Amino acid sequence: MLLSVRHLLSFWLLVFSIPLTSTSALVAPGSSYGPDLDAARRNAFHIFNVIHCAMRQWGSSVNHNGVSFFLATVPEGNLFYHGSSSPDRPDSFEWLAFEVEHASGFALSGDPRMPPPGLPRPTNKPDTFSWQPSYSEISGTQMSPTQESHVTEDSSAQNRLIEDDDRGKHSPPPTSRGYFQTYRASRPLKLIYIDGMGAAEGCWGTTDSQDLLLLGLSRNFTDGPRLGDTVYGRLLCELAKEWGVDGWVRMETGFEIIYCDFASGGGLEFVSQHGSAFPNETENSQWEVKTLLFELLRAAAKRHDGFSSGRIRIDWSSMVTAFAYDVNTTNPDLERQDLPRLIEVTKEEKEDIGARFGEVVASRKHGVNPMIDWQNIVDDIVTRFSDRLNFITHGNLSVEMLWGEVSTLLNPFLNFPEDRNASTPSPIGVTLCTNHYLNAAMMRRDIWTLEDTANFIAVKVVADKICSSLFQIRTLLSSARVGEESALLKSRTIAGTLMDQLQWTTWKGCGRCASSWQFCFIPMFPTGSVEDYYSPNCKGLDDMDDVVKGCYWAGVVPC
Ligand SMILES: *[C@@H]1O[C@H](CO)[C@@H](O)[C@H](O)[C@H]1NC(C)=O
Ligand SMILES: *[C@@H]1O[C@H](CO)[C@@H](O)[C@H](O)[C@H]1NC(C)=O
Ligand SMILES: *[C@@H]1O[C@H](CO)[C@@H](O)[C@H](O)[C@H]1NC(C)=O
Ligand SMILES: *[C@@H]1O[C@H](CO)[C@@H](O)[C@H](O)[C@H]1NC(C)=O
Ligand SMILES: *[C@@H]1O[C@H](CO)[C@@H](O)[C@H](O)[C@H]1NC(C)=O
Repeated sequence: MLLSVRHLLSFWLLVFSIPLTSTSALVAPGSSYGPDLDAARRNAFHIFNVIHCAMRQWGSSVNHNGVSFFLATVPEGNLFYHGSSSPDRPDSFEWLAFEVEHASGFALSGDPRMPPPGLPRPTNKPDTFSWQPSYSEISGTQMSPTQESHVTEDSSAQNRLIEDDDRGKHSPPPTSRGYFQTYRASRPLKLIYIDGMGAAEGCWGTTDSQDLLLLGLSRNFTDGPRLGDTVYGRLLCELAKEWGVDGWVRMETGFEIIYCDFASGGGLEFVSQHGSAFPNETENSQWEVKTLLFELLRAAAKRHDGFSSGRIRIDWSSMVTAFAYDVNTTNPDLERQDLPRLIEVTKEEKEDIGARFGEVVASRKHGVNPMIDWQNIVDDIVTRFSDRLNFITHGNLSVEMLWGEVSTLLNPFLNFPEDRNASTPSPIGVTLCTNHYLNAAMMRRDIWTLEDTANFIAVKVVADKICSSLFQIRTLLSSARVGEESALLKSRTIAGTLMDQLQWTTWKGCGRCASSWQFCFIPMFPTGSVEDYYSPNCKGLDDMDDVVKGCYWAGVVPC
């Protein structure tokens, strides 16, 4: 591994400033890479939400700019689906869908070059959607001087790839039959999960983290105009080969795998294929655009809360996130300060984060048991506090009801009769409350990775904030006379401020939809509007025209 000037500098600084930074820098034995605990503390609320949203359609649609990577394993026997213009096994890397409805969209029979308006071209994944500018439209016209300075022989190789795509190498001839293929994992599949909506090609920054990995680690990747998904697939698979993993998990409308070796013996067993009907061969409404889109979105929405653990297992202790590094994740777009970007992160910083993840992959790709289940820990906290904080803030409670809520939440961490006088809260109460949720992790300090340490710091900051805010409310209430308005208002303000800081995605949902013909909709690439993002709502079959017309993903040009 290269020891860059920056490393030497930071080593120099470290040596001369140990009293200030000795708690912050963590490096792996024998390497100079690792998370920064001050950054983890500073970004604690983001890191908490990264853990909470991982592998969930809902949270990853709200926080669609991922900045984190995880190792993941698909247990043997799991089925995945592939839509193609050919009945044969692909002879290169290809895309696999978690949902039948997702792959069906790519298995349509008909003229793939003339899709009904708004529907994905029913061919292989790489082709984007008709209303999006193609790569060739963007390239050539919008290359800035800095981008040009990156142009090397490598990027001309890339351009050749792109031209291949543009010539329609992967596109079937017009009016061809589509095929729906099913594959089974013939052994546990070793994958890397890129969080957020990494398969989305809008311009919000959903591919920043892939660019980070590729820019830091791939010889063939140069910073420049947005690349087609085929190029991402190819470069990611080159990296997968180098790292000894089978492929990548990403999300758009539904989760998908870029699987790098489709050949027999590559980990996938061919289960079946069948031809899809031409519109003139079927009486049902399958061909209807609306229905297809509705069923695709509906299937994706079934995964708002994630999958059962039998479908895919995340190695939480392998989580490498840019939030745990001292890098600038601020979005230059002042309107979207809620979304992180990695464009201000320097090439050296990207290389460091990528190199650390490479180390993690090398040490854990064959699976490690036990590991710390951070999502379990975070879910316990969200489940216990989410509805109640919302109720305390927005519920118009009386003092008695509020006291009841707070007592339910805090009494387990109090010791009576000593703690009866709530206006002098026992200082140990906050610690007991905080540590309660971290107990499972603290018991296994012996197996912590550097990443576990960063996660621990982050979750502890968040749990401490929740517990101390609630104790603050308890103190306020105990000194209030029954029904006193100002204590109520102050309590509500404390809870509201806490909610603003937590930014849990559980508070952005639709509630229960009126009918099972509806699902909770938020923009999922490539559908939805800006209004849908800020006010997610229940949608049914009749809303599909609007869903297609909304241009959340295309609305941010130029990229
Ligand atoms: C990418 O780089 C590797 C290693 O240098 C090389 O073998 C491969 O052919 C390159 N791929 C492309 C598409 O240029
Ligand atoms: C159905 O449509 C396809 C494609 O347009 C065409 O090739 C085929 O002959 C048609 N079949 C029938 C039975 O009309
Ligand atoms: C981080 O990036 C933002 C957005 O470009 C910029 O406004 C800010 O000054 C940067 N912060 C630092 C410390 O460089
Ligand atoms: C809040 O509750 C009080 C007492 O139950 C009631 O008088 C008042 O109208 C409620 N306010 C709102 C905004 O619901
Ligand atoms: C509770 O503690 C406060 C502050 O120490 C004190 O003024 C008050 O008398 C105590 N109340 C009871 C019921 O002990």
